[in-house]
Amino acid sequence: MSLKQRIIDEISSLGPMPFERFMEISLYDDEGFFGGEVLRSEKGGDFLTSPEVSPLFGDTLARYVEMVRAEIGEPFQLIEVAAGSGSLLRPLLERIDVEAVAVEASPAARKLLSQFVSVMDDLPFRIRGVVIANELVDNLPMALAQRVDGEWRERWVGLDDSSLVFVDAPPRPQVVDWLQDYAGEVSEGGWVEVQLAARSWLTEVVERLEAGAILVIDYGDSAENLLTRRQDGTLRTYRAHHLGPHPLDEPGETDITADVNFTALIDLPGATLHRQDDFLSHLGLRHRLAELRRDELEAARSGDEMERLRIRAVKTEAETLLHPRGLGDFRVLEVRVGWNRGN
Ligand SMILES: C[S@@+](CC[C@H](N)C(=O)[O-])C[C@H]1O[C@@H](n2cnc3c(N)ncnc32)[C@H](O)[C@@H]1O
Repeated sequence: MSLKQRIIDEISSLGPMPFERFMEISLYDDEGFFGGEVLRSEKGGDFLTSPEVSPLFGDTLARYVEMVRAEIGEPFQLIEVAAGSGSLLRPLLERIDVEAVAVEASPAARKLLSQFVSVMDDLPFRIRGVVIANELVDNLPMALAQRVDGEWRERWVGLDDSSLVFVDAPPRPQVVDWLQDYAGEVSEGGWVEVQLAARSWLTEVVERLEAGAILVIDYGDSAENLLTRRQDGTLRTYRAHHLGPHPLDEPGETDITADVNFTALIDLPGATLHRQDDFLSHLGLRHRLAELRRDELEAARSGDEMERLRIRAVKTEAETLLHPRGLGDFRVLEVRVGWNRGN
C-alpha cells in the first residue's frame, strides 16, 4: 500500500490529522522522503546544501570547533545532527582531530556515515563540545495556522473524496501560545508554519549542553522580516533541486520544508543570530577566497591551465557559500553555554 493510501486510511478511521503528523509520516516513515534507502542530501539529490556545495564549509567550521575547544578544554565532542552524507564532517575531520559523532534519522545517511564516524540514534544525555545542525530545523514537523477574521485557525489534513486537502480546525493551546509569542503581526488570510518542534529540539540540546556551543544553520529570518511572505506562507516542497508539487500531493516523494522563524529560537539564553556570509567570513573564509583569487591569477600567469581551472572551481564554490542573496543569506543561530569570549 502506498504511503499516501496509508495516510488516507488513517484519516478515514481517525479523522483529519494535524499538519505536523502529516509531515512526520511524509518525511520520516519507512517509506517517507528521508525514511527509505535513498540518500537525499547529496549533489545529485533533491536539494543542494552548503556542505554539499563545498568542503570549505566544513573546513571553515573546523576553526569554530577549535575556538570553542580552546575555551572549554577536554572532554570535548563534536556532534553533527542531521549529518546527511557526511559532507560537513569529512573536511572538518581532515582539518582537526576531534572526537565526532553523527546523529541522523535517515537510514541511507546512517549507513554512509558509519563508514567513517560513530552514528547515534539520539543526542547524548550530557554534552561538552559543539553541536552543529545544518538544515535540520526547517525539516522538523510543524503545525500550520491561518489568520481568519482576526483569529487563528489551524489547517489540518483531511479528505475530499480521496484527495488530501487542508481542513479547518480550532487551534490547540500550544499552537496559540507559539503564535502569540512568535508569529508577529500577521495580516488577515496569512499562513504561518508553527515550528514547535524546532524550539523544543533546541531547548533540549541547550539543557543537555554542560559547556560549549550549538550552531543551527538554516534558511529563514526573524518573524518581522518573514511577514511579507505570510500571504501564501513559506511552506514548500523540493524535488531534484527544484520547487516541487503542492505539499499534500505526493507525500513521501518530496522534501517538505519552510523558512525557519528565528524569532522563536533566539530568546534562549546565550543565543545570537548571524548571517552565514558574516559568520564564515569571521572564521576566515573571505580571506581564503582572496588567496584563491591570487592563486588563480598566479596559475594563469604561469600558464598552468589545469591548475587554474581547479583553483577556479574551488573559488566559485567558496563564492557560492558567501553569496549575499543565496547561501550567504542563511542564518546561523549560535548558542554559547558556559563561556563567552565575545568572538
Ligand atoms: C536537508 S537534509 C540536510 C543534511 C545535511 N545537514 C546537509 O546540510 O547536507 C536534512 C537531514 O535531517 C535529517 N533529520 C531530520 N530530522 C532529524 C532528527 N530528528 N535527527 C537527526 N536527523 C534528522 C534528515 O534525515 C536529513 O538527512
